[in-house]
Amino acid sequence: MNYKDLGLVNTKIMFADALKRKYAIPAFNFYNMETLKSILDASENTKSPVILAVSESALKYMGDDFLMGMISGAKIKSKNIALHLDHGHSFESCKHAIDIGFSSVMFDGSELPFSENVKQTKKVVNYAKKFNVSVEAELGTLSGIEDENTKSDKNIYTNPSDVINFVHETDCDSLAIAIGTSHGAYKRNNSSEKLRFDILDQIAQKLPKFPLVLHGSSNIPQNLIKIINKNGGKITDAMGIPAAQVRRAVSMNICKVNVDSDARLAFTAAIRESLFKKPENFDPRKYLTVAMNKMTETYIHEITEIMNSAGKAKK
Ligand code: 13P
Repeated sequence: MNYKDLGLVNTKIMFADALKRKYAIPAFNFYNMETLKSILDASENTKSPVILAVSESALKYMGDDFLMGMISGAKIKSKNIALHLDHGHSFESCKHAIDIGFSSVMFDGSELPFSENVKQTKKVVNYAKKFNVSVEAELGTLSGIEDENTKSDKNIYTNPSDVINFVHETDCDSLAIAIGTSHGAYKRNNSSEKLRFDILDQIAQKLPKFPLVLHGSSNIPQNLIKIINKNGGKITDAMGIPAAQVRRAVSMNICKVNVDSDARLAFTAAIRESLFKKPENFDPRKYLTVAMNKMTETYIHEITEIMNSAGKAKK
């Protein structure tokens, strides 16, 4: 299946515009119909382009046919939506995503030695180019847990002196960098920790017209944590990246920002609260509708307040 037949676009034109007009395309992860619909609703409501991100474990959870059936059923026409493999860990995984209709893939070789990361990224790029699929690569490692395949307990900042060589040798379309964000809900020990804007600045100076990507950028809204804990949950000491810091990164050539945990919290908070308030309800459609509304609200907030991407969709 070719992604164009599904109304999808790759990320190249998206990033060119984002770089020019200083905004970021939100990459929101999805793993079922409810998350997918909420992202598409938020995109439609705000006229923002979006990247629909699917991790390897989310792909396994949905299965190829269900996932691509949902994408086809969404009848995407807007030319502002990309379908992206988040953290592909092997050539085979990226090839598989391309073959079933993804318009963009990430090869995450960040844990590999530099030369091996270059070699494997290049192999993915060579395959992806045949289908005009865009490729994101990663240099530097983010700590935290995203899913069973993406976890690390180390945070190794990207070395600015590596980036030109890496991009030149791999011919990748965008580069994820490590400047102090991390995956999951526990990103910070205290609120005074800051991202390494000095590293971002050096990288942006070396690659002034090249799309940079920030993973692990959830804000971890404390109001959602409160709702979860008030209604039987137990999430302690969760802390995210303050919105102002992500906004600053967006003004410095970050043109794709990955957010997953915030929507997971919104989903969970809405369901816990809804079931607690109406203990007699056992119709999943009722609490899943509440959850979709809460997720859409969260995505719209991030699009308008952090990404600066509202109104940037192509007509
Ligand atoms: P968060 O855990 O901060 O939402 O990051 C998600 C992410 O980077 C997906 O690749």
